[in-house]
Amino acid sequence: MKAAKLRVLENRQVSERYWHMVVDAAELPDEVKPGQFFNVRCADEIYPLLRRPFSIYKINKRERTLEFLYLVKGVGTQRLTEIRAGEKADVFGPLGTGFNLNAEDGAMLMLARGVGIATLAALAQEAAEKGVRSVAVLSARSRNDLLAAETLESYGAKVYKVTDEEGNSDVASVGKLLEGIFREENITAAYTCGSKRLAELLQRMAADKHIFAEIALEENMGCAMGVCFACVCDIQEQDGSVRTVRVCKEGPVFPLEQVVIA
Ligand SMILES: Cc1cc2nc3c(=O)[nH]c(=O)nc-3n(C[C@H](O)[C@H](O)[C@H](O)COP(=O)(O)OP(=O)(O)OC[C@H]3O[C@@H](n4cnc5c(N)ncnc54)[C@H](O)[C@@H]3O)c2cc1C
Ligand code: FES
Repeated sequence: MKAAKLRVLENRQVSERYWHMVVDAAELPDEVKPGQFFNVRCADEIYPLLRRPFSIYKINKRERTLEFLYLVKGVGTQRLTEIRAGEKADVFGPLGTGFNLNAEDGAMLMLARGVGIATLAALAQEAAEKGVRSVAVLSARSRNDLLAAETLESYGAKVYKVTDEEGNSDVASVGKLLEGIFREENITAAYTCGSKRLAELLQRMAADKHIFAEIALEENMGCAMGVCFACVCDIQEQDGSVRTVRVCKEGPVFPLEQVVIA
């Protein structure tokens, strides 16, 4: 883990609300794992003071570049769009725990909503590299927000898209879709990010079917180093006790069965 100023190779708008940034990661010594994130300074000025966390969207080992896909939400991400190719991005990382790819004897399922898709894309990339079959159910407000679907398809993932505008993204409809996928695809591991309602659904289904499942949590962060406790959530231990953990330090990836989804 280190702070570095990485050269931005590309930072451009890719849809109405999303931007894509590519940085030169040659000077980062650590291996970066899907599910890990970087804490990024969005502007050179004092405001906004706090860095913003972003997952790794794509890892290009040969070129030694990293890619981020981000939703322009508030002041930090708005300022991030102002960084031009050739300028430096001030990043800190890689931080947190990565996913455990655990579907070698079957296929893995990814269930994501909104920017959660960005977090799971790097896992789909790793699955493709290791010859693991993957199926993704992507949920978003509109079709326009499903741009990462093409990236997943380029990794060979079978992609199902559901959107609020088409009226097929409610939990009941997604549950039916998942039942069909579980029946047909020999799913042996499942991963989710981006929606508490969908995470609850997958938590129930994975428990019923005894499937290995992980979740990448997103919480508002301050330090992203385990110091400020801004990012806590609850984990249920096997003996029934509840433990409070820091998403930035002990996570962001956790066993889905253990997370108390509030
Ligand atoms: C581990 C992790 C990985 C993430 N990966 C991505 C990603 O790949 N792409 C992407 O678009 N977004 C990602 N997010 C969410 C992203 O960090 C927020 O959208 C971003 O911080 C919003 O900043 P803002 O200034 O534009 O919004 P504002 O709402 O103005 O932010 C105000 C404050 O709230 C915090 N905040 C607001 N929303 C979130 C949120 N959902 N999660 C965490 N902190 C938040 C900000 O850090 C800031 O301190 C991730 C969040 C976490 C925790
Ligand atoms: S953000 Fe400070 S402890 Fe997690």
